[in-house]
Amino acid sequence: MLRKLIAGNWKMHGEQAWTIKPAGFDGMFKAADRSHLDVLICPPFPYVREMFAASASRNILTGGQDCHALEKGAHTGEVSAEMLADCGASYVIVGHSERRAAGDTDADVHVKAMAAKRAGITPIICVGESLAQRESGDANNIVGAQLAGSVPECLTDYVIAYEPVWAIGTGKVASVDDIKDMHVHIRGIAGDTIRILYGGSVKPGNAAEILSTENVDGALIGGASLNMADFAAIAKAA
Ligand code: 13P
Repeated sequence: MLRKLIAGNWKMHGEQAWTIKPAGFDGMFKAADRSHLDVLICPPFPYVREMFAASASRNILTGGQDCHALEKGAHTGEVSAEMLADCGASYVIVGHSERRAAGDTDADVHVKAMAAKRAGITPIICVGESLAQRESGDANNIVGAQLAGSVPECLTDYVIAYEPVWAIGTGKVASVDDIKDMHVHIRGIAGDTIRILYGGSVKPGNAAEILSTENVDGALIGGASLNMADFAAIAKAA
């Protein structure tokens, strides 16, 4: 069985004072008791370095929420994977549906995943279908095409996050059967060594069922990762 990864995506939430949150998490779920899993927090860019400083000694990993394809250059407002690595990040989310909605294509996600590899950090490559695509029976094809376009063939160290767009921040969770079917589909494409996370309205109340589903190797959590009691409860369920 692959080691589980419980990842919090804070999105555009937080403030500098929140960098004490890893201490709160550690108080609720001690590092010694969670040596069987990886816990990751991805705060907004300005807090990455301080989050890393507050997290590393507690065995909590830090990640970025996106990166640019290039190492440096005239790209106002962008952050490179090397900069994230320099600030202590060991993971970076790429191709989140909120970034895809802002214009990122599969080809963009592909080069961002390559940038993560170049910088020596692990990309979490997000895929997921819209509600219309699910209702028309196209979910498997859509996710298959996203994986084909987004995952560089030479990549061996990466994580896939399956996040059905309609389940993100809506309180709607995919059924366990739907999660199971999609994760089997992704496993068939990605192979046995790649962790496949589920994301979309994961909460303390549904985490145990989702995390015990076959081929679910962890979760990517938005809203519930902002509250350390909830985040710890989800991690305990793993
Ligand atoms: P929610 O957990 O708030 O639905 O967000 C999921 C997500 O987008 C994580 O990347």
